[in-house]
Amino acid sequence: MTTTVIGASTPLTVGIIGGGFMAREHSAAARSARAAVVGVASSSPAGAERAAAALGIPRAYATPADLIADAEIDVVHVCTPNSTHAEYALAAIAAGKHVVCEKPLATSLADAVLLARRAAQAGVVAAVPFVYRFHPMVREARARIAHGDAGALLTVQGSYLQDWLLTDTDDDWRVDALQGGPSRAFADIGSHLVDLVEFVGGERIARLTATTRTVFSARTRHSDIGTEDAVALAVETVSGAIGTLLVSQVSPGRKNRLSIEIGGSVESISFDQEHPETIWLGRRSGSELLQRDARSLTADAARLSVLPAGHPLGYHDAFSAFVADVYAAVAGEAPDGLPTFADGLRAVRITEAVLAAAAGADWVEVAGEEGAP
Ligand SMILES: NC(=O)c1ccc[n+]([C@@H]2O[C@H](COP(=O)([O-])OP(=O)(O)OC[C@H]3O[C@@H](n4cnc5c(N)ncnc54)[C@H](O)[C@@H]3O)[C@@H](O)[C@H]2O)c1
Repeated sequence: MTTTVIGASTPLTVGIIGGGFMAREHSAAARSARAAVVGVASSSPAGAERAAAALGIPRAYATPADLIADAEIDVVHVCTPNSTHAEYALAAIAAGKHVVCEKPLATSLADAVLLARRAAQAGVVAAVPFVYRFHPMVREARARIAHGDAGALLTVQGSYLQDWLLTDTDDDWRVDALQGGPSRAFADIGSHLVDLVEFVGGERIARLTATTRTVFSARTRHSDIGTEDAVALAVETVSGAIGTLLVSQVSPGRKNRLSIEIGGSVESISFDQEHPETIWLGRRSGSELLQRDARSLTADAARLSVLPAGHPLGYHDAFSAFVADVYAAVAGEAPDGLPTFADGLRAVRITEAVLAAAAGADWVEVAGEEGAP
């Protein structure tokens, strides 16, 4: 079903927990979807005051519990470190709120299962910002594959590469398993990658094997770091397509390079989020780079093309479209492709499989006496 990417017709009242990067992004997207962002809470009363001033939000709550208890708030956005997601999202659901909870939905499979169950039981809208789904050209790729244009799925490949943790002087709460969870690079950005591969390819990953690497066991503020800087996976989908995925936060020059390529028996389709206005359609002859132009796109991609061709859309626009669809769902619509807690649970399930595979990986040693290459 299609909606109009403007959010609910009756403006909603929104509260945000957290005062960092995502609080800024969520509050901007909420406003563009015509919501009133009325309050913010963070890790301390002073942090909430600072966030309120920085983001132009009228009310600063002393604690997240105070925000969740405010009867005026319809939707709670959880934008805090990963290990806090379950507590805040469960409390918000118990208070009858609709919830947008950042990825990874939880730092354990048990918590993610509980969150998805509680959200379903409460009948609230519960969404996870897998926002790359909201690029029009992602929807175009998905529609073409669903329509059979690519043929039978043969291969998948993808990567999500960043360099912001490249040296041991780079540090963040995410490297600490107590705050970020047992997986770092995969839970943080690999979750987006597998969501996008399954969303666009239209198939579940059925099996995988993985290996992880932690380059630095100590950084400026953390020691004994066990969370991974990089992960390599081999995967197989339910229909037997095989593929490779690479996730890294130590890849020089790569800032936020999420790219996927779905290979079918007729056509390959690739998307790179750093160049989101195009998809590449690979054919034995007549490959083409398809540029976003609503006049020639499928309905769902055209719906998300909120600017005319030649007026580039990007990350902000995808975020805004996601939040608008969440609010449309609150208003009773059923927007196609809305990532829910079930999708958040799916990514956590794959993350646990990755860690389990990496812990017990069966490597085949390649013997030989050929010497150095
Ligand atoms: N969907 C996306 O594209 C995307 C992008 C970036 C981050 N994220 C996710 O968003 C979440 C927040 O990331 P960020 O980049 O905004 O981090 P951040 O460090 O910029 O901000 C985190 C905020 O949470 C506050 N905080 C810390 N502990 C808290 C607690 N116990 N209770 C309440 N507030 C607390 C901090 O003071 C800070 O204001 C993470 O889960 C991350 O994975 C998602």
